Amino acid sequence: MIFRIYTLFPEFFESPLRSGLMGKAVDSGIIKFEIVDIRHYSEDRFKRCDDYPYGGGSGMVLQAEPYAMAMEANESGNALRVYMTPSGRPLDQNLVKKMSGYGEISILCGHYEGIDQRIIDRYVDEEISIGDYVLSGGEFAALIVADAVSRYVPGFMSNEESLIEESFESNLLEYPQYTRPCEYGGVEVPDVLLSGNHSKIARWRLEKRIEKTRAIRPDLYKKYLMRKILGE
Ligand code: ADE
Repeated sequence: MIFRIYTLFPEFFESPLRSGLMGKAVDSGIIKFEIVDIRHYSEDRFKRCDDYPYGGGSGMVLQAEPYAMAMEANESGNALRVYMTPSGRPLDQNLVKKMSGYGEISILCGHYEGIDQRIIDRYVDEEISIGDYVLSGGEFAALIVADAVSRYVPGFMSNEESLIEESFESNLLEYPQYTRPCEYGGVEVPDVLLSGNHSKIARWRLEKRIEKTRAIRPDLYKKYLMRKILGE
């Protein structure tokens, strides 16, 4: 899997891509990052890439030209091209899974008031938001997309860990986990987990998942109920 990231801040990616599972995947070559510095393609004497918005308003807009030049110089023609923006389609596990079907994903990171619309119209297949809040730049969001998609790349995770996405596929949040010691801070691990009775444990875990989802994610809980009613 290749992630090609267009950014004004290439140094942002240095440490995260060397850490943890992502670091291992990069070292072993199953994931490749191409970090493209937009500023490199600016023809401005001072390498500026932004300008005032037409029509007025606060903030600056990233100019079309450096983005277009960068993309023309780096795109292979096979990539899914996405733009990270709070006004995009919300990222969820279904979208992550769909994206993982591509061998190459190009991610455009914006800043300030965003990128000139003509770049989005010409080069972008999907605008994606990671949530209803505004970040200082698309780089944080780009890393989240790359991480979530990478979990589907064969060899990125061990088999055990790969079961975790079932949390969202079944529309229920995960059950609580405990490990040794059996008693910590005066609180004991629930008896059922020590019982050795696997069907009882499974039922308890399902109940906990339902309780938690119902309490903090009524939207997911509704989906869970609908699928149950439909017998899916
Ligand atoms: N850039 C700034 N905020 C963002 C968000 N919520 N999602 C994706 N990209 C962003």
